[in-house]
Amino acid sequence: MSTQPIGIFDSGIGGTSIFQEIKALLPYENTIYLADSFNAPYGNKSKSEIVDLSVKNTELLINKNCKMVVVACNTATTNAIKTLRENYDIPFIGIEPAIKPAALQTQTKAVGILATKGTLSSELFHKTTDLYSDGINVIEQVGDGIVSLIEEGRTYSDEMQELLKKYLQPMIEANIDYLVLGCTHYPYLMPMLLEMLPASVKIIDSGEAVARQTKAVLVKHQLLNSRKLKPKNQFYTNGNIEVLKSILNDEFMVEYLQF
Ligand code: DGL
Repeated sequence: MSTQPIGIFDSGIGGTSIFQEIKALLPYENTIYLADSFNAPYGNKSKSEIVDLSVKNTELLINKNCKMVVVACNTATTNAIKTLRENYDIPFIGIEPAIKPAALQTQTKAVGILATKGTLSSELFHKTTDLYSDGINVIEQVGDGIVSLIEEGRTYSDEMQELLKKYLQPMIEANIDYLVLGCTHYPYLMPMLLEMLPASVKIIDSGEAVARQTKAVLVKHQLLNSRKLKPKNQFYTNGNIEVLKSILNDEFMVEYLQF
C-alpha cells in the first residue's frame, strides 16, 4: 500500500484528459499534475529538447515524492520515455497514438491520425505504425497550431474551426472510418470534431487504456493506495493558471509554480 502520489506531466493542460481517466478508475489515489505550459508546445521541438524537458518534469515529480510518473503527453512519450526508464528507478506509464485498435477495426481500410510533428516523426510511432498498417491507408496529419490555441484558452474559436477543417478534409476525402487522436490536448476538441466529421467516423484516443495500464502497474509493484480516504489532487502550472482552472472542477487545487 502506498499513499505517495502518482505524478502526471504534460507540455500543458492536455494531460488533464488523462488525469480524468485515471481519477475515474483510481478515485482514491493522490496525484500531482505538472502543466509545463511555459514550454508548450513540445510538438515542434527537437528530440533532445523534449528529453531535457521531460527529465526536468520527472525530477520535480520525484522530488515531490511521487511513486510513479505518467507521461501524459504523446510527444514526450514517443521521444523521451526510453531515457526516463533508463535513468530513474520508478515505474513510468506513457501514451502513444491508438493506431493498433484503429488499424485492426477499420472497414474502409483508411485511418486518420492527428498528432504533433514530434510524435509523427518519432521512431516509436513509426515502429508501431509499420507493425499494424499493412494494407491500410494511414493518413498522418500534423496538428500544427492546435495545442497553442488550446493553451491560450481559444479551443472553441474560428481559428480552430479553420485549422480543423483544413486538417480533416483530406481524411474525409480518403474515406476514413477511424480518427486517432494522437495528442492529449485533442480530446478537448471532441464537440467540434463530432460536428465536422461524418457520423460514420469513430474517434479514438488512448486515455482509458493509459488509466488501465496505470492501475495494472500499480498492482504489479504493490503500490496501490488501498486507503479509501478523500485524495489530494494537486495541480501546478508554470503558465496561465486561469486556463488550467477553466478545464478543471473547482474542487481541485491549482497553483502557479516556476519550473
Ligand atoms: N499533449 C501533448 C501531446 O500529447 C502536446 C504536445 C505539444 O505540446 O505540442 O503530444
